Amino acid sequence: MKIVGICGSLRAASYNRALLRAAAAHLPAGVTLEVVEIGALPLINEDLEKPAWPAAVQEFRRALWPAEAMLVATPEYNAGMPAPLKNAIDWASRAEGIGGRTAPEGETRKTPLQDLPVAIMGATPGSLGTARSQQQLRTVLLNTGMRVMPGPEVYVGSAGTRFTEGELTDERSLAAVAKCVAALAEWARLLRG
Ligand SMILES: Cc1cc2nc3c(=O)[nH]c(=O)nc-3n(C[C@H](O)[C@H](O)[C@H](O)COP(=O)(O)O)c2cc1C
Repeated sequence: MKIVGICGSLRAASYNRALLRAAAAHLPAGVTLEVVEIGALPLINEDLEKPAWPAAVQEFRRALWPAEAMLVATPEYNAGMPAPLKNAIDWASRAEGIGGRTAPEGETRKTPLQDLPVAIMGATPGSLGTARSQQQLRTVLLNTGMRVMPGPEVYVGSAGTRFTEGELTDERSLAAVAKCVAALAEWARLLRG
């Protein structure tokens, strides 16, 4: 099973990117996790959809189509989801044909997000563990037609005490990440039948 990882932070030493690395190190058998980058996407603007989506948007969408599930690791900015992440979701949520064709031959879904199983994690130095950002993200993802996994939820607060030299080392957090990615693989299997 192919899981695509999305990091909501563009920061080089991002805690959330480290969460995705931790997930990649704790995958169930037969599951792969590859991070798709969102930093090169222009700001969402419908004027950019004609005559065709910008190359970065097309590349991003092409990278999403083969995914069988998505794992998002998000920071919290001002009690909400970060702008680069919302921007990436917005570009991916546009229907095929609006700015060209990016879907593989035979694909029947209208967007690479439609019906895609997705789970959410988040890390922050703050005490609330990105709870407010995740709540907002959940609403947005549901609106795109994604199959948002109800739980287990992963809230890594006080990140400064849970990472060592940029990697997640806190045992409880590592266990939560492993449990989440295993549940996502099962969630995707259940939904796909
Ligand atoms: C504009 C901005 C707003 C922020 N607001 C919050 C916030 O509301 N809650 C929070 O827990 N952390 C907040 N932070 C701190 C981030 O959680 C922290 O920078 C975190 O390390 C970002 O994730 P990353 O390590 O993956 O880049 C904010 C940071 C920025 C840049």
